[in-house]
Amino acid sequence: MQKRYFLSALMVGLLGAYAGTATAQEKFKIGLILPMTGPFASTGKQIEAAARLYMAQNGDTVGGKKVELIVKDDTSAPDVTKRIAQELVVNDKVNVLAGFGLTPLALATAPIATQSKTPMVVMAAATSSITQASPYVVRTSFALPQAAVALADWVPNNGIKKVVTLVSDYGPGIDAEKFFKERLTFNGGEVIDTLRVPMRNPDFAPFLQKVRDLKPDALFVFVPSGAGAALMKQFAERGMDKAGIKLIGTGDITDDDILNSMGDVANGVVTSHHYSASHNSPLNKKFVAAFEKANAGLRPNFMAVGGYDGMRVIYEAAKTTKGGSGEALLNAMKGQVFESPRGPMFIDAQTRDVVHNIYIRKVEKVGGQLFNQEFSTIPDVKDPGKSK
Ligand code: PHB
Repeated sequence: MQKRYFLSALMVGLLGAYAGTATAQEKFKIGLILPMTGPFASTGKQIEAAARLYMAQNGDTVGGKKVELIVKDDTSAPDVTKRIAQELVVNDKVNVLAGFGLTPLALATAPIATQSKTPMVVMAAATSSITQASPYVVRTSFALPQAAVALADWVPNNGIKKVVTLVSDYGPGIDAEKFFKERLTFNGGEVIDTLRVPMRNPDFAPFLQKVRDLKPDALFVFVPSGAGAALMKQFAERGMDKAGIKLIGTGDITDDDILNSMGDVANGVVTSHHYSASHNSPLNKKFVAAFEKANAGLRPNFMAVGGYDGMRVIYEAAKTTKGGSGEALLNAMKGQVFESPRGPMFIDAQTRDVVHNIYIRKVEKVGGQLFNQEFSTIPDVKDPGKSK
């Protein structure tokens, strides 16, 4: 009798201990590193809001584990991103790293993903080469060449032959310049000058003066999300539009986050991109309404969609692997096909990069508000940068 009691007590004890470790292991941890302060804070705000919305809509349990979202501010400094990633991997033992608001932040972290075999979901940064920086990178944002090439195909058929390019002087800007120029030249157009401005706190004035003197048909611009409003303001102040120079660019310059505050100078601007808040699909309407409701009327931009879709890719991979990690989790991310608020998209299993539609859009007033109205679709665009 006593022996029996002892044994069952032992069993209970063992089970308790087992249950204890099971609870500790039952978390599925997502380390979300974003610029939450500084000049690129809007990117962090959009992505965090989108990630939280995804969790609110899809629950905080996946693959039998409780999801823990750990959000960290890297202040957009690459050494800080890298240090935080290291801590998240070593101390928190995250299943996946995510976020990455700018190219240098993603590139600084890629070696950590490789060494620790931790999947790294890039939700914002958009230089073509990022997916090649580590075999553990999966991208749900976009690649600049996708948008730049699509616009260079549209331009020469629409009365624009001579173009000056003006880009932020780092990865995505250099991609935008290179791929726009190559494709426009191939199409019989001409890039008569290529100008580069500093990535941080650019003063566009001297560059815009130069553009005025060159008198191109259009000025093609890439600046990172958040910097478009300053560019628009100075473009108007210099009277460029009145001088007959059209403003065109990738959709980063007519970012939905700040488009409404840009005023009339933005009206009519043609851009190419993968997401517009006015994308006409039931899924997007639902997404925009839910996002605005949860965030005091804030309109989601393409950064939010990169974050939302990134969470989708992570959740589905966590389901397939029952809350797995490492290579198994990574493999379950590859090849996912689904409908995003941006339209159809998939993660190319070979390149781990996003394939999606690129839309040509024009800024128009709808119901008193400025929107990027999509009027032409180039379906299933792979990053043209990958074949180089
Ligand atoms: C980038 O740094 O890769 C980046 C940032 C903002 C954008 C696009 C690309 O809008």
